Amino acid sequence: MRIGVLGSGGMAEALGGRWVAAGHEVLVGGRSPERSRAVAARVGAVAGSPADAVAFGDAVLLAVPAAVAAEVLGPAPGRVVVDCTNSVVPGRFALDEPRAAVRLAERTGAHVVKAFNLCHVGVWRLPSLVFEGRPLGVPLCGDSAAALGVVRELVRSIGCVPVDGGPLERAELLEATTAFAIGLWVGGADVRSIFPPLPEASGLM
Ligand SMILES: NC(=O)c1ccc[n+]([C@@H]2O[C@H](COP(=O)([O-])OP(=O)(O)OC[C@H]3O[C@@H](n4cnc5c(N)ncnc54)[C@H](OP(=O)(O)O)[C@@H]3O)[C@@H](O)[C@H]2O)c1
Repeated sequence: MRIGVLGSGGMAEALGGRWVAAGHEVLVGGRSPERSRAVAARVGAVAGSPADAVAFGDAVLLAVPAAVAAEVLGPAPGRVVVDCTNSVVPGRFALDEPRAAVRLAERTGAHVVKAFNLCHVGVWRLPSLVFEGRPLGVPLCGDSAAALGVVRELVRSIGCVPVDGGPLERAELLEATTAFAIGLWVGGADVRSIFPPLPEASGLM
C-alpha cells in the first residue's frame, strides 16, 4: 500500500518506519521540509509536503496534535484517514474535545478511522509487538467499511490484530480510555492489571 504521513514527529516516525519495514511505500509530509526529509531518510520513506501526504495513496496517517488535526488535513473527501490523535488535556488526563473524530470527519469529508492512539509511541518503536505470546490488539473505530478494511490490513501488516471497536462515534470512548490509562500510568499504577480475562461463567462468553 501507499501511505501518506501528516507529521514528522514521534508517531509519524514510529508507525511510518513499521510500515516501510512491512513493505509499504510511505511518504512523510510534515510542515517542516527538513524534519520530514530527516524522518524519511531514517525510516526508508520519501519526503514531501503535507499536501503530497494527503494525495499520496491508499491511506493518510494523521500524526499531529488533535487541536490542529482538521486544519492540517484540510478538505479530504473520500480519503482514508487513520486518526491516531488524542485530545488529552495535559495534567488533567481528560478529553479536550468530545466527538473529535466525528467532527474531523464532518469537517474534512474524510473516511476517518480512529486507530493506533491507545499505545504510547514507545510501544510502536519496540522491535516486537508480541506480548506474553500474543500479538498486540489494535482497536479501530470507523463508519466506512472500505476504510476499515484498509486500516485492518495496515494493522495486520505490522504483526498486530485489528479489534473492531464499532462506529466512529465510539472513538471518543477509545480516546477517553487512553486518557484514563495515561493518568493511571503517570500515577504509577499497573495499567495492565485492570483488565483480566472474563470468567467463563460470566455468561458473556
Ligand atoms: N506520543 C505518544 O505516545 C502518542 C501515542 C498515541 C497517539 N499520539 C497522538 O499522535 C499525535 C502525534 O503525536 P507525536 O507523539 O508524534 O507528537 P510529536 O512528536 O510532538 O509530533 C507532532 C507533529 O505534529 C506537527 N505539528 C504540531 N503542530 C502543528 C501545526 N500547527 N501544524 C502542522 N503540524 C503541526 C509537528 O511539527 P513540528 O515538528 O514542525 O513541530 C510534528 O511533526 C498526537 O495527536 C498524539 O496525541 C501520541
